[in-house]
Amino acid sequence: MSEIPELRVTEGNAKKVTRRKFILGVIASGGVVAAANYRLISSAVHGQMSSGDRLITINVNGMQRRVDVMKQETLAWTLRYKLGLTGTKLGCDRAECGACTVLIDDVPHYSCSVLTHTVRGRKVTTIEGLAASDGKLHPVQQGVVDVQGFQCAFCMSGFVMSAVGFLKQNPNPTRTQLAHGVSGNLCRCQDYNKILDALERGAEYMRRA
Ligand code: FES
Repeated sequence: MSEIPELRVTEGNAKKVTRRKFILGVIASGGVVAAANYRLISSAVHGQMSSGDRLITINVNGMQRRVDVMKQETLAWTLRYKLGLTGTKLGCDRAECGACTVLIDDVPHYSCSVLTHTVRGRKVTTIEGLAASDGKLHPVQQGVVDVQGFQCAFCMSGFVMSAVGFLKQNPNPTRTQLAHGVSGNLCRCQDYNKILDALERGAEYMRRA
């Protein structure tokens, strides 16, 4: 850690503390505080665990994945940064936007708000696991491709996962019911009508499949 310039002003040295030195000191101490805060947040997020507690196996997209996790680690974090499944997006990271939606035992969940160690013994499906093994897209994915229902598409995988989970339980919804089904997902481009067009097409493909 670099030395912080001495800033204490006494009667004796008051005249020697120039404005330049003062500003330099403020900047340096600000940097040290920021670094300390970063270390504090980082250790709070990542925690301290013994290595024996960390290694778990989770079922993701039909595969048993051995992964080293921290007890406070979220599923979104594990999927994206440990397993490389970056189709799961992180938007708000606080259970508001739905970009991180995955299926757990076929039910949509915000993966930013699920601790990874809690999904042991359960079945996690991400957008990467929807297509068939021969590469054929899931009907909802195909609906999105055909209708081109998204603009920037950052929210797309979350919407698709929510729609797939909803349609498993409600295969023949009205447009309003489908809108309610994916109402936990937000789109910052806000073209909800077009998104619903795409998801309705996907629902139709699912019924035909
Ligand atoms: Fe999980 Fe927004 S990133 S709900």
